[in-house]
Amino acid sequence: MRKIVIAIDGHSSTGKSTVAKRLAKALEYVYVDTGAMYRAVTLYALEHGCISDSSDDLETLIKSLDDIRLRFEYNPETLQSEIHLNGENVEHKIRTLEVSRYVSKIAAIPEVRKKLVEQQQEMGKEKGVVMDGRDIGTVVFPNAELKFFMTASAKKRADRRFKELLERGEQVTYEEVLKNVQERDMLDSSRTVSPLVKAEDAIPFDNTSMGHEEQFRIIHQKSLEVIND
Ligand code: DC
Repeated sequence: MRKIVIAIDGHSSTGKSTVAKRLAKALEYVYVDTGAMYRAVTLYALEHGCISDSSDDLETLIKSLDDIRLRFEYNPETLQSEIHLNGENVEHKIRTLEVSRYVSKIAAIPEVRKKLVEQQQEMGKEKGVVMDGRDIGTVVFPNAELKFFMTASAKKRADRRFKELLERGEQVTYEEVLKNVQERDMLDSSRTVSPLVKAEDAIPFDNTSMGHEEQFRIIHQKSLEVIND
């Protein structure tokens, strides 16, 4: 099968990673969750006291960027590729509401983006990759053969995220989650470096009233059309 780059960008909690993972499996492509990379740098910043509610020390974080090693490793137990930060599997630690609260701030730092974008370009240079994020179709792979831009209403996205967090045993209220979704939309779309915008040639995809199955069917079908073109 021809190898192409498939970019799936869009707002937070639009189910990008669910559909991207399934698509990569069906096409036997590599899946790269770029949000996990920004989350892992955020976790590093929290664990090293570079960011908190009261004060930030982003200079120290920027100076430490060379000490942050990120790697995706396949976990045969979960059958997923999971992110490792300096040798530790942090796949669970990066999904908390605490990390979600700070990640937009970290993702707005140009030095952080430069480092992660370079790594992402390296991971996709052989093609045969499904990459999800915010700037894949605009900055990381502007020449990707196929691009989707996913969105859904903030309320619907907060519903989905709230359920996920409850399943993981987090003590959160629906209001907190909705507020986080809205704040991240605002920060991700208004930052100066690589803001969240739809690439001109991306296919818009609103999944507010669509189930996983229907989404996958449409995106898979479109991918096969482009691959076999
Ligand atoms: O997809 P996610 O919610 O796990 O992403 C976490 C944050 O990382 C999101 O709020 C914005 C940022 N991000 C980004 O700026 N660029 C990307 N390519 C991926 C994520």
